[in-house]
Amino acid sequence: MTQSFLQYIHYVEFGGGEGNTMALILGLGGGYRHDSSACLVQDGRIVAFAEEERFRRVKHNRGSRSCSLSAAWCLSRAGARLRDVDAVVIAFNPRWPEPAPDAIDDPHLTAAHLDPGHFGGDRPERLHLVEHHLAHAASAFYCSGFDESAVLVVDGYGDGVTTSIGRGGPDGITFTRQYPYHQSLGWFYEAVTQHVGLGDFTSAGKTMGLAGYGEPRYDLDFLRTTADGYEIDLSRYGLRSTLTGGGLAEFYARYLRACSAALTAITGPAHRADLRYDPATGRMSGPPGFTRTQADLAASAQLALERGLSALAREALAGSPSRRLCVAGGVGLNCSANGVLWRTAGATDMFVQPAAGDAGCAIGAALEHARRIGDLPAGRTRLTGAGLGPAFDDAAIRDTLDAYGITAADHGDDITGPVAKHLAAGHTVGWFQDGMEGGPRALGHRSILADPRTTASRDRINSVVKRREMWRPLAPSMLADAAGEYIDGPAGPADFMIVAYRASAAARSRIPATVHVDGTLRPQLVEEASEPRYARLLAGFAAETGVPVLLNTSFNHEAEPIVCTPTDALRTFFAGPLDVLALGGHLISKSGRL
Ligand SMILES: [Fe+2]
Repeated sequence: MTQSFLQYIHYVEFGGGEGNTMALILGLGGGYRHDSSACLVQDGRIVAFAEEERFRRVKHNRGSRSCSLSAAWCLSRAGARLRDVDAVVIAFNPRWPEPAPDAIDDPHLTAAHLDPGHFGGDRPERLHLVEHHLAHAASAFYCSGFDESAVLVVDGYGDGVTTSIGRGGPDGITFTRQYPYHQSLGWFYEAVTQHVGLGDFTSAGKTMGLAGYGEPRYDLDFLRTTADGYEIDLSRYGLRSTLTGGGLAEFYARYLRACSAALTAITGPAHRADLRYDPATGRMSGPPGFTRTQADLAASAQLALERGLSALAREALAGSPSRRLCVAGGVGLNCSANGVLWRTAGATDMFVQPAAGDAGCAIGAALEHARRIGDLPAGRTRLTGAGLGPAFDDAAIRDTLDAYGITAADHGDDITGPVAKHLAAGHTVGWFQDGMEGGPRALGHRSILADPRTTASRDRINSVVKRREMWRPLAPSMLADAAGEYIDGPAGPADFMIVAYRASAAARSRIPATVHVDGTLRPQLVEEASEPRYARLLAGFAAETGVPVLLNTSFNHEAEPIVCTPTDALRTFFAGPLDVLALGGHLISKSGRL
């Protein structure tokens, strides 16, 4: 058990759940050994959700199915033990290609997800199963607030499927078409990310950012958009779609090799990251820029992806009685593509699950199981906040500061005033408030904030705060009633910084640090009712500067997960160049002068 987890257990506020007769359901993500997570559902409501990486401090929790720390935290949030849980549900079929049973009794698989050592020796007798793409779809549809909706799920691969379209309604979710594993758009985008030298599937967001700098001049003709979807044909590059003795893992490697051969034939050899050791930072770093070929390939891949997704979304909407659209799956984290869907697919409303990747499967698995047993009430409200993780009140934060002997000014609810002045003075701020967000976007609970009025803020955060590529875009949080001023065209969903919109002329001139080179921004619109302290901070910054917008990026360094506990925040703050840290109502500086 990690130090940070023990600290959380010490501080957590227990409550809720007593005397309830409805089922307690624990959903688990991470069956494919990355992005494992846990979600506790009670009365059909999400009680708690968190990713395992935040507790283990290992980004994406690569190579592990363990959800032990996140599950233990979820249970503690409800004052429950593992033995109190009515059903533990996983979001994949370990017996694929055999059909998924309703539940399995597999002690090794169970122990891989939940180490009994974290649960007083308790272990569930069985694991209930929800098919992987159904879990993705459920994570969006049952959080959307829609009574009916078209559904689009696109990821790398899960239970033999890579893309699903269908609809959700009062009787649950049905898929009208599913694409098999050898048609993977997620793997295609991963292959491109590797080819341009940016990393693996966890770096897909970099490719999306790089695409803004390029021209889509390459015809990636092995990915063809059709009237109702897309088709990937890599047979010319030696890919046979049949599985061999190595199963999916072996096919995945063959797929990436064939994709790489295709990209080499069309654009030239793969680009290698020119890693070098920087003694000043003690880190390996890559080249600061990129070539025209790299940017143009990224742009070409992004365009091909967007065309395929748009065709899929239109087909899903055509098969649905509703003009609303729900999106999930790892490709659903592509903000630029989501913006294109919003502008072109013809949906009247859209909901993208903020934890669209495999972490969100814990949410979907739990909610889908709740529906199956009649525990999911009708008339569900839309999820508008992602702060479903650990929270720490000011007393707990004070205890942490005292334990480390750290001096802080206690401003309580008035913390927004001095923080707004720091931001207006050009300082970078660590902002730690309320429950930790689920999903990869920080939304004003575990954020690094800066002045959006100058691109120097973006450059400073990329270069010395986050220590990453200088060309990476950064996003704005803004008061909701300012959306019309900074977004060109009608604003669609903007709760989770997961949909890119065209920036207005005012945005380009007043908040340039948050406008990407392609003329888009991906805003978080902040409502006073749901985020009162963050809204007061934005209003305070507007009082200082006339601009109700802040540059907002996740509170972490490039190589670490988003901070979870006050100790994590203090460690990241003191190890880097952030100027001040707001921990709840406490303000901390490195000099001790505030
Ligand atoms: Fe997935």
